[in-house]
Amino acid sequence: MMRKLIAGLALLLFSQIASAADKIIISGASGQLGGLVIDALLARRVAAADLILVSRTPDTGALKAYAKRGASVRFGDFAQPESLEAAYRGGTRLLLISVNGGGGNRPDLHKTAIDAAVHAGVKQIAYTSYVNADRYTTSMIGTDHRRTELLLQESGVAWTLLRNQIYANGLPDQAEQIVRDGKLVTFTPDARVAYVTREDCAAAAAAVLTTPGHDNKAYNITGPDAIGPSELVALASEISGKRVALVVQTEDEYRRQLQASGMAEAGINGTVAFAKELDSPYLREPSTAVADLTGKPATSVRKLLEANRARLRAAAQ
Ligand SMILES: NC(=O)c1ccc[n+]([C@@H]2O[C@H](COP(=O)([O-])OP(=O)(O)OC[C@H]3O[C@@H](n4cnc5c(N)ncnc54)[C@H](OP(=O)(O)O)[C@@H]3O)[C@@H](O)[C@H]2O)c1
Repeated sequence: MMRKLIAGLALLLFSQIASAADKIIISGASGQLGGLVIDALLARRVAAADLILVSRTPDTGALKAYAKRGASVRFGDFAQPESLEAAYRGGTRLLLISVNGGGGNRPDLHKTAIDAAVHAGVKQIAYTSYVNADRYTTSMIGTDHRRTELLLQESGVAWTLLRNQIYANGLPDQAEQIVRDGKLVTFTPDARVAYVTREDCAAAAAAVLTTPGHDNKAYNITGPDAIGPSELVALASEISGKRVALVVQTEDEYRRQLQASGMAEAGINGTVAFAKELDSPYLREPSTAVADLTGKPATSVRKLLEANRARLRAAAQ
C-alpha cells in the first residue's frame, strides 16, 4: 500500500517536473477537441503559462479566457506557413490536431505545420490520426491520415500517433432519431465500431503530452466495446423504454429510400460510402489505450446513452 502510494507520488512529481520544463503547443485550439485537451492539461495541473494555444481565430471567447489565466494565445494557420514560425516559438511539445475533411491538401497542410514545429525546436509532435491507419489501407479516412503519419515519421522529430477511433459523441443524436422513428435502417448490419468519446481522446492526448515514454509510439484510442446496429437498437430500446426495430435492406433498397426522402445524389453517395467505411474489421477492435494512458476506463456507449436518458425517453413519447 505504502509502496504504491510512494510510486504514485513519484509519478505525479515526475509528470509535473516534465511538464514544468515543457511548453505545450495545441493547434486547432478553438476546436472541439482542442478545448477539451486544454481542459485536460489544466486538470493535470499543467500551468496555463506553459500552454501555447494556436488558432486561426485567437479572439474567440474561450481562448481569451485561457489567455487571462496566463496561456499564450497566438494566431497560426497551416495555410500561411509564415504565421507558424512565431506561433510555435518557444514550444517543446506540439499536439497537431488534424484539420477536418479528408482528401485535398490536408497532408500538405499538416506537413507545413510539422516543418514549422521542427524549425522552431519542438521535440515531440503528437498527431491525431485514425484508428489502425497503418492497416486499414482501403479506408477513405485513414489513407489521408497515414500520409501525414509517414511525413511526421520522416521529419526526424519524436512522434506520437494518437489513432483516434470514430467519435461516439454523435450517437446520442442518432439514438434519439431512431427512437423517434421507431426503427434503424441499415444495409451494413455487421458494421460494429469501438466508438470513443472526444473527452477520452482529449484525456489520452493530455497524458502523452505530460508523461514520459511516448516517443515514437502509436496508440489506437478506442472505446471499450464495439457497437453495431443491433447493439445500438438494443441500447436505445432499453434506455428509452420504446422498442426500436432493426430494418436490414440491400444497398439498392437503402439508396432508393434515401432518394425518396429527397436527399441529393452526392449526399446519398457520401452516406453509403461512410456506412461502408464503418463496416471493417479494423474498426471493431477495442484497445486498452485510454485506460493505460489515463488510469481511467474509456467511456462506454451505454454510459454515454444513459447520460442522455431524459432525451431518449422524451423521444419515445
Ligand atoms: N474521430 C472522429 O470521429 C472524427 C470526427 C471528425 C473529425 N475528426 C478529426 O479530428 C479533428 C479534431 O476534431 P474536432 O472535433 O476538434 O474538430 P473541429 O472542432 O472541427 O476542430 C478542428 C480544428 O482544426 C483547426 N484547423 C482547421 N483548418 C486549419 C488550418 N488551416 N490551420 C490550422 N488549424 C486548422 C481549426 O482550429 P482553429 O479554428 O482554432 O484554427 C479547427 O477548429 C478533426 O479536425 C478531424 O481531423 C475525427
